[in-house]
Amino acid sequence: MCGIVGYIGEEQAAPLLLQGLEKLEYRGYDSAGVAVYNGERLDVAKAKGRLKVLNNLLDGGKKMQGTIGIGHTRWATHGKPSDINSHPQTSVSGKFAVVHNGIIENYRALKDHLIRRGVNFTSETDTEVVAQLLEYYYRGDVLDALIKVLQRVEGSYALGVICEDHPDELYAVRKDSPLIIGIGNGENFIASDVPAILSKTREIYRLADNEIAKITRMAVTVYDLDKEIVSKEPVHIDWDVSAAEKGGYEHFMAKEIMEQPKAVRDTISPRILGGRIVLDDITLTPEQLKGLRRIEIVACGSAYHVGVVAKYILEKMTKIPVEVDVASEFRYRTPIIDDKVLVLVVSQSGETADTLAALREAKRLGARVLSIVNVVGSSIAAESDDVIYTWAGPEIAVATTKAYSTQLAVVYLLAVYMAQALGTISDQEYTDYIAQLEALPDKIETILQHKENIQYFASKYFNAKDIFFIGRNLDYAMSLEGSLKLKEISYIHSEAYAAGELKHGTISLIEDGTLVVALATQKHLFDKMMSNVREVKARGAVVLGLTTDDCTEIEKETDFTFKIPQACDIMLPSLAVVPLQLFAYYVASMKGCDIDKPRNLAKSVTVE
Ligand code: M6R
Repeated sequence: MCGIVGYIGEEQAAPLLLQGLEKLEYRGYDSAGVAVYNGERLDVAKAKGRLKVLNNLLDGGKKMQGTIGIGHTRWATHGKPSDINSHPQTSVSGKFAVVHNGIIENYRALKDHLIRRGVNFTSETDTEVVAQLLEYYYRGDVLDALIKVLQRVEGSYALGVICEDHPDELYAVRKDSPLIIGIGNGENFIASDVPAILSKTREIYRLADNEIAKITRMAVTVYDLDKEIVSKEPVHIDWDVSAAEKGGYEHFMAKEIMEQPKAVRDTISPRILGGRIVLDDITLTPEQLKGLRRIEIVACGSAYHVGVVAKYILEKMTKIPVEVDVASEFRYRTPIIDDKVLVLVVSQSGETADTLAALREAKRLGARVLSIVNVVGSSIAAESDDVIYTWAGPEIAVATTKAYSTQLAVVYLLAVYMAQALGTISDQEYTDYIAQLEALPDKIETILQHKENIQYFASKYFNAKDIFFIGRNLDYAMSLEGSLKLKEISYIHSEAYAAGELKHGTISLIEDGTLVVALATQKHLFDKMMSNVREVKARGAVVLGLTTDDCTEIEKETDFTFKIPQACDIMLPSLAVVPLQLFAYYVASMKGCDIDKPRNLAKSVTVE
């Protein structure tokens, strides 16, 4: 999500910045911009759309003169994609220019504070707050101003900063968002990722959180927040360029699986303020919530699987009846919808044709539509009454992973928020659920640290012809996703079954050596699940059991076991899905499949 490049040296900056941004295009973006000091002031050029629009505007950079500058590709989060919302963002007098990756979570409060002091804002972005604050605090020393700003902002950021009063200095700082410094000969660079500077240098410094780099043509000095100098060891990069474009991962899918802790954190954290869930994004009032007769969820593919999870959770938490429909079926079954039905639409792309058509049908019938969408400004987002954005960043691999996880995170936020508003949970339960939500990213990280166990298991079964996923309740919902993930990228035939339903027909397919993945994370159903495991084992199945790390019973029943951290029942799907994604990925990788672009599939399905 978003790309940063910066340059200081003797060459013309603009062409180098544009070339660097081109190398970051894989990250996904919807606008781009550069700022260069032209000898008198900061010259800024920005354009919505692909980088080539900006490139054409600047004639490959020839139209901008100057040897220091910063550039950015933006993937919109705060404010729609537009020239104005593009970065660099500048301060009120144009003295400071800033590029930013990440989210300034408290930008609203800071913006209000500055507005009250007469500062005029021009964009809808959180980033402009940083540029304006810099000028507000500036007394002649950029480093001092930057330290003051960092004391005020909350959230995640990688920042590149230039100031027209100091045309020989480029500044960089980061927290929870990557930023590197490329060390050149008589020139230096900053970038959000290695590919942007790989053709110029392979010696870099990796900035740590809260380290500030003051970069001149000849030197890089790194400070901490107390203005003490930090000594840094350069790192040599020996990646080949194409591997680096996937951030060092072999496939975008692997990268996106590993990005899940951050994506889930980015989606949850800004919406928990002072121990409460704040869904500023929705206008649905508690009175309207209380008047709902039903919630109807429509979506396709993995987003539909999120809907299946959501049905269990929303019914349990809110006591409102919930139905979930595949979007392509919904509109052809004369659904009973009116203004007392809330239609919840789930979509990563926001452009899926069937989902969009279902949304329009629901609106035509008078329903209120709330959507969970990843792509800002997409059709589904634009046509919904309310949108809650997932902040997963651009997802490139066709098989969704981090978008799915962030959709689940929004479902939890929504369920707890609604339950609190409806009074169906106590204050103590509300507080406990929020604590569980905040703990999710670290728990996902813990699972990823044990990915080799799944890799080992995949190495034993990547030649399987059929694989079954079984579970009950929320574990059944997860089976659906585990099975889809596997079949779409590995082409292994797979089925997901409600464990109790297997014996009504499908168990006839189990024979000696058939692999069954048994999900048993839901404690209240554990014994029942073990009965189903015994049924398939009695017919020759090999069973991988998936449960929580406090369970000591499962090993007695299964051939292999993978354990996830404990969590409250409703949030276990967020953890259970990770080993299933890893399993699908490793199996497909061992089979040599084209993981990021599986046959017959498209990332966004815009035809019915
Ligand atoms: O963009 P959407 O979330 O609306 O897409 C829905 C499905 O096409 C999508 O989830 C699909 O099933 C994925 N390939 C699954 O990995």
